[in-house]
Amino acid sequence: MIDLKIDYTNTLEVIKEQDVLAFQKEINEHYNSLKLKSGLGNDFLGWVELPSEIDDNLIGKIEKLASEIRAKSDIFVVVGIGGSYLGARAIIEALDNSFSHLNRKKGNPVILYAGQNISEDYMVELLNVLDNNDYSLTIISKSGTTTEPAVSFRILKNHLEEKYGKEEAKSRIIAITDKERGALKQLADEEGYKSFIVPDDVGGRYSVLTPVGLLPIAIAGFNIRELIDGAIKMKTHIESSPNIGDNPVSTYAAVRNALYNAGKTTEITVNYEPKLYYMTEWWKQLYGESEGKENKGIFPAGVGFTTDLHSMGQYIQDGLRNIFETVISIEKPNNELQVPTDSKNLDGLNYIAGKPLHEVNHMAETGTTLAHVDGGVPNIRIVLPNISENTLGQLVYFYEMGCAVSGYILGVNPFDQPGVEAYKKNMFALLGKAGFEEETEAIYKRVKGA
Ligand code: PA5
Repeated sequence: MIDLKIDYTNTLEVIKEQDVLAFQKEINEHYNSLKLKSGLGNDFLGWVELPSEIDDNLIGKIEKLASEIRAKSDIFVVVGIGGSYLGARAIIEALDNSFSHLNRKKGNPVILYAGQNISEDYMVELLNVLDNNDYSLTIISKSGTTTEPAVSFRILKNHLEEKYGKEEAKSRIIAITDKERGALKQLADEEGYKSFIVPDDVGGRYSVLTPVGLLPIAIAGFNIRELIDGAIKMKTHIESSPNIGDNPVSTYAAVRNALYNAGKTTEITVNYEPKLYYMTEWWKQLYGESEGKENKGIFPAGVGFTTDLHSMGQYIQDGLRNIFETVISIEKPNNELQVPTDSKNLDGLNYIAGKPLHEVNHMAETGTTLAHVDGGVPNIRIVLPNISENTLGQLVYFYEMGCAVSGYILGVNPFDQPGVEAYKKNMFALLGKAGFEEETEAIYKRVKGA
């Protein structure tokens, strides 16, 4: 039984029920081609069966290493970019105490991130923190050649070896990479780092249920078996019926594509829990990199309410009407706190005294949804009973499958990312990398206006 529910009643002023149901036949075909591996990008479908196929030995190995690393680290640094860090960060930040970084001890390391930018200030400030704390790290790169994590790892490896000596440093580095190809695999073998494999047929943004996500999540102290169990529940449910209405993935894919066809080209994922900020970032990557191709695709955006009601709220209420919202609604928080009574009541808030804060948050959610719907912004609501490893596992698999089906409806390959290469070529040319001489000359002319 899954806990995730989806409600699209608040889209039906813009699209009709039959616009949604019209996708059923096509969706059935797309499930079929995912199953038969006959559709676009069929070399990268390893994630489909992944939750139910994860080897128990692998989980045990991850858990054992996680407890060794936890015991000797105040900080654990995840070095990776895109799909090689966002999934782990999304789950860790959703489950973690919002202020855990102020309250950590050895045995329960704080998780920090590197390799997701090339900022000198960020790196120097990170090194300053690492000078004064015991730490370990993982370098995650499927290709092993991505510039941002490779540069960060080169710096961190030197720092770790200077701090602990080569032998101890070796025991504090875990490489997660491709089975055979790539510089990182060669480095891990030569240096003797512990390593895990990213399966060949699982692309970066679909890799959260491989060691790419599972190792950092386990080191952060969370239950990866429950996360996997949640994903299996969602997978089993999806397989039991493809029908829009019964199957939340079919429903989501059909509704968002019906909205896209009605001119709603931007989807804004909304949360009312700041812990879900990185879940939205992960979703943005998953959908943006999978669908934004051939001059097509829904633009994935994100806001955190009620915070952003005081910044983006105006645009959403009254701006260009090409947007729809998808709210991730959490029914019950993990803590309880009531609004106190105040004898003077100068702020006029006694009318909500005694109410739990989450009731105020929910009323803000309902009120905002109605206002935005009245303003012409259709609203999909994804409901989870709470934030836990199990419900997040369900959400992860729901979004992954929703992305594949939506991408197929759009007619693109949801598993490649050819457009990401363009900036790299220019950057390599500007930095003078061998093999890019022709581009270097052309690009310098453009940059300098020569
Ligand atoms: O989804 C993807 O494939 C990308 O976002 C990659 O994960 C990202 O570019 C990092 O690649 P790599 O793991 O090869 O360093």
